[in-house]
Amino acid sequence: MILDKNNIPNKLNKFIVIEGINGCGKTTLIANIKDYLENNNKDVICSREPGGTPIGDSLRNIVLSSSKEMTPEAQFFIMSASRAEYVFKKVRPTINNGSFFISDRYYYSSLAFQSYAGGLNFDFVYNVSKEVIKECIPDITFILDLDLETASKRLNLRNENSNEKDSFESEKMEYHQKVRNGFLDLSKKLPERFVILDATKNKEQVFNEAISILKDIYKL
Ligand code: TMP
Repeated sequence: MILDKNNIPNKLNKFIVIEGINGCGKTTLIANIKDYLENNNKDVICSREPGGTPIGDSLRNIVLSSSKEMTPEAQFFIMSASRAEYVFKKVRPTINNGSFFISDRYYYSSLAFQSYAGGLNFDFVYNVSKEVIKECIPDITFILDLDLETASKRLNLRNENSNEKDSFESEKMEYHQKVRNGFLDLSKKLPERFVILDATKNKEQVFNEAISILKDIYKL
């Protein structure tokens, strides 16, 4: 998707979010963007949700080990508690300091996972999340979009060398299809800026597309 150049805000937070279904390639893209920005003498902080703070990391362990035994409401409030810590202790201080902040997931994941897939009311999740994040709105969110089969193959490859699937990753295909559709739908629904990248392309192509958009936004 091409970014509408007339739709770039005056005030930039230097806040970039990467989203997508499990196995979409977020980690690689984040590492590549970080390297690119640092090679251009920019200060960059990267972190992830849920987690990113000591309390957030404890909450991450709870929710990723037992999400299937929880109601979507319980999942969402744990995600929100982690997010409240994350925004207060990491996102806002970084934005105020003028460094780049790259977040592996943000409240859009609560909409995709707990609302579109988990069945929670969209406005409920949206309104609580807005209250938690306040003014900390990303300049741009990249959604790495790909089919479930390719994503699942990538996850299996990754898990061969590490631990087993977490509780969300082991949800049924139907659940992940709803998450994928959710990301695509919310990119049309919310006023914030989304760019959908075709994550079936190789990592260089995905990176080049992301960077050409970041160059436009940040005049890099
Ligand atoms: P990941 O960091 O490996 O992508 O895993 C985080 C998992 O947590 C992933 O399966 C998505 C899920 N998640 C939610 O369900 N809701 C949320 O709000 C966030 C941030 C993550």
